[in-house]
Amino acid sequence: MSDALPPVLIPESDIEARVAELAQQISADYADKGELVLIGVLKGAFIFLADLSRQLSIPRAIEFIAVSSYGSGSKSGAVRLVMDVRGNIEGKHVVIVEDIVDTGNTLHYLIGILESHGPASIKTCTLLHKASATEVEVDIDYVGFAIGDEWVVGYGLDYAEQNRTLPYIGNVTPTD
Ligand code: IMP
Ligand code: MG
Repeated sequence: MSDALPPVLIPESDIEARVAELAQQISADYADKGELVLIGVLKGAFIFLADLSRQLSIPRAIEFIAVSSYGSGSKSGAVRLVMDVRGNIEGKHVVIVEDIVDTGNTLHYLIGILESHGPASIKTCTLLHKASATEVEVDIDYVGFAIGDEWVVGYGLDYAEQNRTLPYIGNVTPTD
């Protein structure tokens, strides 16, 4: 990959505005439900989770879960649990916070893992959704932006660990 910055797909100001809208919507939906547990999916969701969680107007707790797909770069593979949530989420309302839903395999797998912990409810939130890449249908309750079937980086997302901390969403052309 060249050193040039990836072209902008979604500018920082659009992300900021959309994250604020999502936070308002989630705050309204959970206003009468007590504490909400946001579960960020490492590593990609760390920036989105940080921004989203700080804009909620309801009580919330933060947990993380880590998964990895076999293979690197842009190839999708079998999903593997790297780190489970640490806190007890039994009987609690949880929202899974993802950076992007591509084939849907990761989110489908995560819902299965988290269901086994007996939460009161599970909803899903993703900043980005590649709707045309769906292989496994998963209900997504909160979506930031729908994008095409292209590889994107920035705002937490990487390509081979590059460009994770770009402030905007850019697109790159994978070479694998
Ligand atoms: P899945 O295909 O829905 O299981 O997505 C698997 C994971 O691949 C996502 O959680 C992301 O971490 C990663 N991923 C998918 N598409 C992209 C992309 O365009 N950029 C960066 N990461 C991606
Ligand atoms: Mg991810």
